[in-house]
Amino acid sequence: MAAGIDDIAIYIPKLYVDATDFAVARGLDPVKLQKGLGISQMAIVDANQDPAILAANACLKIMQKNKLSPDDIGRLYVSTESSFDESKAMNSYVIGMLEQVYGQDTFEHCGGVETKFACVSGSYALYDNTNWIRAGEAEGKCALVVVSDIAKYDMGSSGEMTQGAGAVAMLLNDDPRLLVFDPKVTSTSIKDEYDFYRPFGKETPIVHGQYSNLLYMIQVRKALEAYKRKAVSTGLIKIGADETVLDHVDYINMHLPYSNMGRKALAYLVRHEWRQLPRWKKVLQKIGSEEPVPNDPQGTIESVLGDEEFMTKDHEFTKMFTKTPEYQEVYEAKLASSLIASSMIGNLYTASLYLGFRSSLEFEFQKRVDLEGKRVGFGSYGSGSSAMVFSGVIQPRYKEIVEGMDLEAEIGKRRRLTWDEYEKLHENKLSPDESMLQPTKEFALVHVKTETESRGERHYIFTE
Ligand code: HMG
Repeated sequence: MAAGIDDIAIYIPKLYVDATDFAVARGLDPVKLQKGLGISQMAIVDANQDPAILAANACLKIMQKNKLSPDDIGRLYVSTESSFDESKAMNSYVIGMLEQVYGQDTFEHCGGVETKFACVSGSYALYDNTNWIRAGEAEGKCALVVVSDIAKYDMGSSGEMTQGAGAVAMLLNDDPRLLVFDPKVTSTSIKDEYDFYRPFGKETPIVHGQYSNLLYMIQVRKALEAYKRKAVSTGLIKIGADETVLDHVDYINMHLPYSNMGRKALAYLVRHEWRQLPRWKKVLQKIGSEEPVPNDPQGTIESVLGDEEFMTKDHEFTKMFTKTPEYQEVYEAKLASSLIASSMIGNLYTASLYLGFRSSLEFEFQKRVDLEGKRVGFGSYGSGSSAMVFSGVIQPRYKEIVEGMDLEAEIGKRRRLTWDEYEKLHENKLSPDESMLQPTKEFALVHVKTETESRGERHYIFTE
């Protein structure tokens, strides 16, 4: 049985920090954010919002748009790494909020859990729910997978310039209008690592930024190797001489902690794939130098990062490589459109990859490309760490979904925060009733109880 994504909806908080304001306040060159990292704005949550609210707002949108009733939904999964309870799953909060709109106990039949593995857990949730449908367990119902996060780093840390927030809800069924996942090729890699993690009780992560960049690329490459083996052995893709698996994937969506990480990762994967091919010779001729190798080619990530001579040469080589027409063609055709939304919104952790997918659909369609039958590849990464590589094919009825996409309209009117407002929100100095904006037709946090017997209980309302 086929299964995949029928529709997709996003909810992005309406407050943002502008990259230039951020750079000025932190004494950085604004060009570092805009060009170096690809960041223009970062979405920030209001004082009356939390990740469950972002998820519930995205769910409500997709349900209303498709005129779904709770009876149509068999499973509701929420994937997040911004969880605020060690036991009670975030989908239960989301169901509580949705029942304020659809009526008490209307979701009683609906199963689901909260999944966690940094930014990759949404991809595992999609895979599990796709297989629930493929196995014939869905009894005609759909699954809702919602990825929702608030990417928040310590004040003054190097991660602070890669913040963001938002949720993406994806409706899965057995006759999807948008994308059918390719069967038997989903591939993973996993390794116990400390590139980025958030110990219990700490609101912000501990991050080893450069280590995480390199680890991300290595893990996705390993998952891609496994994907390639499966794609060939199942007959999904036939790779000819002077071809790579990437030649057979029309669009590539990468996890986007910041927009330029997509460029970096694509360049790394393409280099890896092309190295063995006759076309690589031509590319090297254009660059005018051999590809640099670390002093210790079998070394660890630390030894590679500590190898200053290699890192400088490699940085220079990558820059030259990404300027070649051969790479530019791949970048423009397969990746560029997926990066647009990320630069306007920032890191959404679990939701970043899927915001990129949503962005790619809208901006490729605007170029008047016929998307039917195009293969879309996904490179998902979660710190800690695991990667997942999988693919799907755009379906004949995709226009019913993509024609109406308008990122700016879907985000809504946004408000640029002053630095003082940003600092107050970041340091949790405002209570829910001191929110910057008054939401309408959205969920909002009213109160979190502090009494011993009910500590942590959250009270939400749907605002009229
Ligand atoms: P940094 O070390 O301060 O930045 O922080 P940098 O020195 O690497 O500079 C960034 C880029 O800007 C570089 O370009 C510079 O050359 C350029 P690149 O070499 O990459 O092509 N640059 C400039 N360009 C123009 N004008 C200038 C200028 N100055 C520099 N004046 C870092 C960057 C990402 C490490 C930091 O922000 C950070 O730690 N972020 C958080 C961690 C992160 O996002 N890691 C990404 C990979 S891990 C991941 O994706 C998982 C994650 O989403 C979590 C999860 O899974 O849950 C984070």
